[in-house]
Amino acid sequence: MKPLILGIESSCDETGLALYQMGRGLLAHSLHSQIALHNEYGGVVPELASRDHVRYAIPLIRETLRKADCSLTDIAAIAYTQGPGLGGALLVGASVANALAFALDIPTIGIHHLEGHLLSPLLSDPAPAFPFVALLVSGGHTQLMRVDGVGRYTLLGETLDDAAGEAFDKSAKLLGLDYPGGALLSKLALAGTPNRFKFPRPMLHSGNLDFSFSGLKTAVLVATQHNPTDDQTRADIAHAAQEAIVDVLVAKSLTALKQTGLKQLVIAGGVGANQHLRTQLQLKGQQRGIQVFYPDLEFCTDNGAMIAFAGAMRLEQQAPQIGFAFGVKPRWNLQQLNYTA
Ligand code: KG4
Ligand code: ZN
Repeated sequence: MKPLILGIESSCDETGLALYQMGRGLLAHSLHSQIALHNEYGGVVPELASRDHVRYAIPLIRETLRKADCSLTDIAAIAYTQGPGLGGALLVGASVANALAFALDIPTIGIHHLEGHLLSPLLSDPAPAFPFVALLVSGGHTQLMRVDGVGRYTLLGETLDDAAGEAFDKSAKLLGLDYPGGALLSKLALAGTPNRFKFPRPMLHSGNLDFSFSGLKTAVLVATQHNPTDDQTRADIAHAAQEAIVDVLVAKSLTALKQTGLKQLVIAGGVGANQHLRTQLQLKGQQRGIQVFYPDLEFCTDNGAMIAFAGAMRLEQQAPQIGFAFGVKPRWNLQQLNYTA
């Protein structure tokens, strides 16, 4: 039997489990989202997140094994999200992974959450080939990376303040939408009138590949304070906020491709689910001979499949983070993963 990897994601508000078999692919995955739990607080409550991961980790492992028709003893290694993320939430996944691995006498692989995201389009068909440019757009991160292979990442640019997902979520909150508001804002924007509002596109012409989104929430705040609160106005503001975020993401991604001379762009992270971003990239990419790759929609936001897959890639590579080293890294720079084999 080819090695079977169990993947555990618990860095934030989703408990994700998956089984990936080398040479065969993804066998099964399960997910529990905590969105309903955190909704009434308007954001993720770290302590509640940890407790919920404790509740769901083991039942989801059982469910995933059942779906894949496998048993615990079939597992060859356990990959878990080691960071970055919420300390307590990460510790739940790390504890379950290491305890189980110790009992089964198999190794664990500590995976960088963003590596999981940026390799996730490789789970889809067609998959990109190395090298490619990756735009990582999640609730906590906005980065452009050059990816030359597994573990060969070069940071091209990143946000200096808020992440793109954060800009979506904060704008959504100002418009009275639930957390996380990215998808809800984009739904509201569908009814928006183009060009009624125009928000700034910070650093669009900065000459580098960095981003800044913190000014957007101020612009949205001012617009909400100085206009009536009817549904059409809210939709028009949502439309303008989405346009501003997407315009910057598209422009910087195209510049990164031009600068590197690469023709493949991978979009990873929750904001990658945004339909307007997808349409714009498709349109503008096509004009420039650029191929754009996305993970399947269910793997855009946090999930166990991307962790199991990254674990399989790392196992194949005999990467240095394989072993029984138990620890989490709530803050972790992706480029620290680079090493020469
Ligand atoms: O990757 P992810 O699940 O979690 C992190 O690692 O942060 O990303 C979550 C982010 C949230 O900010 C959420 O609002 C945003 O992705 N998001 C979206 C959409 N779906 C999720 N933003 C814009 N449009 C969407 N359709
Ligand atoms: Zn994520």
